[in-house]
Amino acid sequence: MHGIHSPFIFQFQHEAIYGSQDKSIEDEIIRFRESVKNNHTTITIEDYGAGSHKFKTDTRKVSEILKHNSTPLKRSLLLYRICHYFKVEKVLELGTSLGIGTQAIALSGAQVTSIEASRAVYESTKSRLTSFENIQLIHNIFQRYIDDDLSRLNPSYDLIFIDGHHDGMATMNYFERLLPFSHDHTVFILDDIYWSPDMTRAWKTLQQHERVTASIDGFFWGFLFLRKEQQQEQFYINLKTM
Ligand SMILES: C[S@@+](CC[C@H](N)C(=O)[O-])C[C@H]1O[C@@H](n2cnc3c(N)ncnc32)[C@H](O)[C@@H]1O
Repeated sequence: MHGIHSPFIFQFQHEAIYGSQDKSIEDEIIRFRESVKNNHTTITIEDYGAGSHKFKTDTRKVSEILKHNSTPLKRSLLLYRICHYFKVEKVLELGTSLGIGTQAIALSGAQVTSIEASRAVYESTKSRLTSFENIQLIHNIFQRYIDDDLSRLNPSYDLIFIDGHHDGMATMNYFERLLPFSHDHTVFILDDIYWSPDMTRAWKTLQQHERVTASIDGFFWGFLFLRKEQQQEQFYINLKTM
């Protein structure tokens, strides 16, 4: 691990990570979150991921999913700031859930495509995000979407947020399969890199990947950069202290 000696990482840390957002954006993110918090409808979950530390049953209240399975407020704001900072135009999110991350990304103005396999979750979220023309919600399994749709559409994403199916092998596979749909300045964000020893192994392996130059270990999120002008260096910024 190194201190911050890279101007690119230094600026990203100061302006995006420790920066701030307009009050109106913060208000919108909070308002959306509150609407979900007050939704006690029970929906049936089909678990396509690596399971959950929190739930044993397959029926949950929307408000409970928010509490245990969604991006927390500070992280939604951070996600917005990252998208805003990099001026990303096209984003892919693997794992929509209640759309907490999706909304934050969309507020930056980016076109966001978000994938969710659990039908009831997808339907519920879709009904709440109708006002966003720049959000495309897809009901599908990640792998099938990558194999079928992406291969056909051949998009190029500026940011890819992998926030579902927290299994080491699956995460490495998604990264590899998504590389053809990235470019040198694409930012990959991996959620829950310390969720399990298996996820941590995958994270450490990806940091050494031949296409990855700089990486930031942010404890709950891992950032992978492919920028050729950057040498392979690993940085550590503890986002928990934010
Ligand atoms: C942690 S949640 C996503 C949180 C969301 N990004 C947010 O910002 O609040 C993960 C979601 O991914 C979905 N998921 C997990 N594995 C999947 C897979 N293989 N294909 C499609 N969806 C999957 C789950 O159903 C779950 O809703």
